[in-house]
Amino acid sequence: MSYKKIVVAYSGGLDTSVMVHWLKNKYDAELITVTGNLGQKDELENLEEKAKLTGASKSYILDLQKEFITEYVWKALKAGALYEGQYPMATAIGRPLLVKLMVDIALAEGADTIAHGCTGKGNDQVRFEVGIQTLAPHLKILAPLRIWEFKSREEEIDYALEHKIPIKIKKASPYSIDENLWGIAVECGVLEDPTVQPPADAYQITSSPKDAPDKAESISIEFVKGIPVSLNRKPLPAVDLVKELNVIGGKHGIGRMDLIENRVVGIKSREVYEAPAAVILHTAHKELEKLILDKETFRFKQGVSDKVANLIYDGLWFSPLFDSLMAFVDSTQENISGSVTLEFYKGNITVLSRSSLFSLYNKDLATYTIEDKFDHKAAEGFLALYGLPYKTLSLVKAANTPSETKAHEVAH
Ligand code: ARG
Repeated sequence: MSYKKIVVAYSGGLDTSVMVHWLKNKYDAELITVTGNLGQKDELENLEEKAKLTGASKSYILDLQKEFITEYVWKALKAGALYEGQYPMATAIGRPLLVKLMVDIALAEGADTIAHGCTGKGNDQVRFEVGIQTLAPHLKILAPLRIWEFKSREEEIDYALEHKIPIKIKKASPYSIDENLWGIAVECGVLEDPTVQPPADAYQITSSPKDAPDKAESISIEFVKGIPVSLNRKPLPAVDLVKELNVIGGKHGIGRMDLIENRVVGIKSREVYEAPAAVILHTAHKELEKLILDKETFRFKQGVSDKVANLIYDGLWFSPLFDSLMAFVDSTQENISGSVTLEFYKGNITVLSRSSLFSLYNKDLATYTIEDKFDHKAAEGFLALYGLPYKTLSLVKAANTPSETKAHEVAH
């Protein structure tokens, strides 16, 4: 197969730096690196220079933070999408945006191929490749990490040194870390043993609940149509709101998770996550839905949340079912406006209060005091009908089951 012009997903880390050089060497193609800033703390300075020194002819570095939150993260939040009930999917939600960016650039540049630095057993290769196949089916895809000769990080470092590839040989972190505004994922090293508790240094942005402040802190978040718009009554742009919640929540040890999860390829993996803003916003959003959604919509949406989470995790963001389910989700969010007050204390979130103009909570109906307006007699007729199928079933069962004495008589 020949490759003439390759758009390369580039972070500037060891894998992708070695990858650019390796691709240039092997295929002698024109290389264009693409880096999206989703709020990761990696250095983005000098990235263009580094890419060019390594063999790229052109380098794109784009700030996608706002688009990431407003066009991707907010959808997952409105959907209540938490993979296997817990993981807020920072990595999984970021991938479709990077795919779209790479495809747009590949089309604008007339490239014939996209290359990514994912391994052969992870989820990200699935998210990249299904996304690329969907958005630009004519493009070729290259995944050097699945085919190259390097067996370890050390071999990659040797290659980089030998070919004068600019890399920062930091004190090798024992972990593989992926980070963006919606959270951090940490795996590998000692974490690969699920019987071992994560060491303190596995956590990057949250304090241990044990070391968190002894004083609780409360905040209020206001939502409009399912989207958070202000913090403590101060309207904030989306990116700032998420950043602030990460800081406040992180300080109180909120958003830590130590999970075993089912990967797309069937392997179970153990990963430590930190996602203070995501956990805070999902908690607040769900609380408002409990107040505002009617019973059947609320119950039905729980199944939709799970399905949307699976689609995102499995790399099917750009799929007809995802769009259809999001249309349902959007219609449920029409009235999800109001505010929620939460308290943070040593890793815990307590809901202190919730209010909305669209609240379906009616104190006159719920109260057990003299103010009660509920018609208790109405329950009689309701229960006679509601229980009828089960009453009938039991009567029929009894009529068909020989009693012990009857069985005894039959035997003689
Ligand atoms: N398991 C998570 C996912 O597939 C995170 C993957 C990236 N993790 C990492 N530590 N590099 O969405």
